[in-house]
Amino acid sequence: MTLLKVTDFRVAYGGIKAVKGVNLEILRGEIVALIGSNGAGKTTLLKAICGLLRFEGQMTFAGVDAKRKRSDQLVKLGLSLVPEGRGVFGRLTVSENLMMGAFLIKDKTSIKNDIDRIYQMFPRLAERKNQIAGTLSGGEQQMLAIGRAMMARPKMLLLDEPSMGLAPMMVEKIFHVIDEISNSNVTILLVEQNANLALNFAARAYVMDSGRITLDGPSFELKTDSSVRRAYLGG
Ligand SMILES: Nc1ncnc2c1ncn2[C@@H]1O[C@H](COP(=O)(O)OP(=O)(O)O)[C@@H](O)[C@H]1O
Ligand SMILES: [Mg+2]
Repeated sequence: MTLLKVTDFRVAYGGIKAVKGVNLEILRGEIVALIGSNGAGKTTLLKAICGLLRFEGQMTFAGVDAKRKRSDQLVKLGLSLVPEGRGVFGRLTVSENLMMGAFLIKDKTSIKNDIDRIYQMFPRLAERKNQIAGTLSGGEQQMLAIGRAMMARPKMLLLDEPSMGLAPMMVEKIFHVIDEISNSNVTILLVEQNANLALNFAARAYVMDSGRITLDGPSFELKTDSSVRRAYLGG
């Protein structure tokens, strides 16, 4: 069953076209990767899907016409973004950051249960719940960004470069949790410049170049594709 579908999706910054007619279809429960080099338009595409930038074309999410919906309405429908560069509130504590992610949920007991669930997922955040987020390491901030997005109880999580700038051990930890999140019935769209990592993690992938999808298919096929190997996997 289709969860997210975008058709002839176009995004421009003034006169500069950053996304030029993209089609994506993601089914419930899938883990899908979007790879492509710096400047390909991946972040622009994710931001527009989440209602943070205006787009032309069509989009449906969870069976609803999602065009011109505000980002908070899309969060309510079950679409959550973990932004590039994490975007945690640096002056708030870990637990205050998590509370910010719960803005849709009114009942205090369920917020507390949700926070406990995030702390189980990331024990390091539990140990640091009163620490100011700006003083966390990069990996801990990434954990917090994912935790905050999960507080909205999403159907689908869009992750923008979660491995960026992190040591291999931390990347492994973060991807272990993303895998757990996927197993809990959350659909994943993973944007990564690290194509090797993305193709090993996701079952299926899209390749983006200069604002267009140039290739898509099962990850195992893309991994052996000579153009993908040359451009994104170092030969
Ligand atoms: N706020 C902006 N204003 C103008 N151009 C932008 C802006 N953000 C990104 N771009 C341009 O859009 C293109 C795609 O950028 P981006 O979506 O960030 O790519 P990626 O995430 O794949 O690295 C690039 O050419 C970039 O310079
Ligand atoms: Mg980007």
